[in-house]
Amino acid sequence: MDNEIQKLTQEFEQTVAVAATVQQIEDLKVKYLGKKGPIQDLMKLLRDVAPDARPLCGKKINDLKVWIDSTLQAKYENCLQQEDQQKIAQETLDVTLPGRRRHLGNSHVVTQAMDQMLNVLMEMGFSVQYGPDIDTDYYNFEALNFSKEHPARDMQDTFYITSNVLLRTHTSNIQARIMEFHKPPIRIAAPGRAYRNETITARSHVFFHQVEVFYVDTGVTFADLQFTLTDFFSRLFKATVETRFRPSYFPFVEPGMEVDLRCLSCGGSGCHLCKQTGWLEVAGAGMIHPEVLKNGAIDPEEYSGFAWGMGVERLALLQHGIKDIRMFTENDLRFLSQFTQ
Ligand code: PHE
Repeated sequence: MDNEIQKLTQEFEQTVAVAATVQQIEDLKVKYLGKKGPIQDLMKLLRDVAPDARPLCGKKINDLKVWIDSTLQAKYENCLQQEDQQKIAQETLDVTLPGRRRHLGNSHVVTQAMDQMLNVLMEMGFSVQYGPDIDTDYYNFEALNFSKEHPARDMQDTFYITSNVLLRTHTSNIQARIMEFHKPPIRIAAPGRAYRNETITARSHVFFHQVEVFYVDTGVTFADLQFTLTDFFSRLFKATVETRFRPSYFPFVEPGMEVDLRCLSCGGSGCHLCKQTGWLEVAGAGMIHPEVLKNGAIDPEEYSGFAWGMGVERLALLQHGIKDIRMFTENDLRFLSQFTQ
């Protein structure tokens, strides 16, 4: 028995000497002191020892056990400390490393153009109002004097959700909604997305942004509309712009017109931007139709108003000389990051 104890003592001394990690020490603890370990085996051998030698033998085995346990414990703490220190050493910050660059986001080039429009309009006394992208046929069409069978509905290919609910084809739906709940004077700029079921090309998309502007009060005249439009675009482009009005048709205005600006790039002599016409088409406009006022419970005998609507992508195209409207929605950072403010 003494032999066995000595052999085990030696073996343990050798093994523990090479154990270097917390994990190894834990494994040794299981190996030596566990139920299937050599200490237990020795305990079993006690049965064969002569009864008078047994107590001493038992004590020796127990001493060995206690010694193994305390040796492992001490080594364990040692290793733990070492491993902690190693970890700390590895985690040391190298303050000489160059910092990681954080990429700051910025507003989208279309948002920037929209904000510019709204800032000018607010400066001119308009307040900003929003309306729903998903709206009923009533606010998008009917209240704006498009009757059910009106052929002008075909001008705007509509995405219908149900026969009565649709994606608005223009931000004029906000006009119809505001008039219903507000009494004149009304001076509103209404930005938002509009949707049309059209083929996507370099110049048209299935969704785009508009800003609708409208003013209702006593004695609002066509001259007010002309002046306000010219003033707005002059402020927007920080230049004295020249406007031209061409008769056009929208059911919700009478008279209706298209608004052109003398080409900002060539001054009218003709270039690729204005497609050699000398003019840029920038808005649809007109005097609000009496029927539309009536639908908003505003008496057309007492009040009159003007409205115009303009495309925001169109402005951004003009401002930056971008040729393809699809660039705006492709989320290519090489394109977008050119327009940091
Ligand atoms: N809603 C028209 C469009 O989307 C633009 C417009 C607005 C025309 C207001 C006249 C008055 O084409």
